[in-house]
Amino acid sequence: MILKGKKVVIMGVRNKWSIAWGAAKSAYEQGAEVICTCSEDSIEKVQELVKEIPGTSVYVCGDVSKDENIDKCLEEIKKNHGKIDGLLHAIAHANTEDLRNDFILTSREGYAHAQDVSSYSLIAIVRMAREKEMLNEGASIVAYTYYGSEKAIVGYNVMGVAKAALEASIRYLSKDLGVDGYRINGISAGPIKTLSAKGIKDFSSILDVVEERAPLHRNVTIKEVGDSTAFLFSNMSSAITGEIIHVDNGFSVVGV
Ligand SMILES: NC(=O)c1ccc[n+]([C@@H]2O[C@H](COP(=O)([O-])OP(=O)(O)OC[C@H]3O[C@@H](n4cnc5c(N)ncnc54)[C@H](O)[C@@H]3O)[C@@H](O)[C@H]2O)c1
Repeated sequence: MILKGKKVVIMGVRNKWSIAWGAAKSAYEQGAEVICTCSEDSIEKVQELVKEIPGTSVYVCGDVSKDENIDKCLEEIKKNHGKIDGLLHAIAHANTEDLRNDFILTSREGYAHAQDVSSYSLIAIVRMAREKEMLNEGASIVAYTYYGSEKAIVGYNVMGVAKAALEASIRYLSKDLGVDGYRINGISAGPIKTLSAKGIKDFSSILDVVEERAPLHRNVTIKEVGDSTAFLFSNMSSAITGEIIHVDNGFSVVGV
């Protein structure tokens, strides 16, 4: 029970396949009070889902490319739950055409959209949480990223660039947050079949390659990513900040 007595906010639960859902379940199993946020269109599904982890609250957080939506959602959470010990950012989006076409065809609008939703939103969320003084002493923030930030992966395109910015933001945020004793880290999760992943061209062949080449010869599960998230929320990781941890069965360390 490494999260006993802690309160964590899990942003980005959409359905039972969401990686954020794995994080919510792991945090619950480790003794945390869990607060989930989701988009308006998935509220009914998520409300049904959280019945599996009693005591969990759900809030709608509208489009995170609008500051007022983040503000409203965090304000509501603060009002009802007070200070929190952990926050997960599991939010990303790119326009379908930018994941289907060659990267060179990425539009200015598509580039800005992917960056805004998938990367800048982390900065805005963390800043507002700090301004609202809703982070408890030693609070830990986690964001999900992917190997497509480090290597050119067919079909990941503009999202790879957004994740590279997200990872750099984590390093810069660690300096600002460290002043107050808060931590922030990224988890670079191996590929997992989720609704978002369906938008990526030939996603199933990416899963096959991982199975073939990763040292552990299998794909990761949302439980494994969730358990690592719980570790990063916990005091067991108190000296880790600004880091990107690969939870990918070792795929990223293999050359030829
Ligand atoms: N699935 C993978 O293979 C994989 C691998 C590594 C990292 N990730 C990352 O994990 C995170 C969660 O993705 P997932 O794969 O579980 O998919 P998912 O579709 O279950 O979750 C994506 C979430 O992003 C939210 N979202 C999208 N646009 C939004 C916006 N404008 N405003 C507010 N919320 C918005 C959706 O509502 C959803 O809850 C993402 O950051 C994703 O990039 C996924």
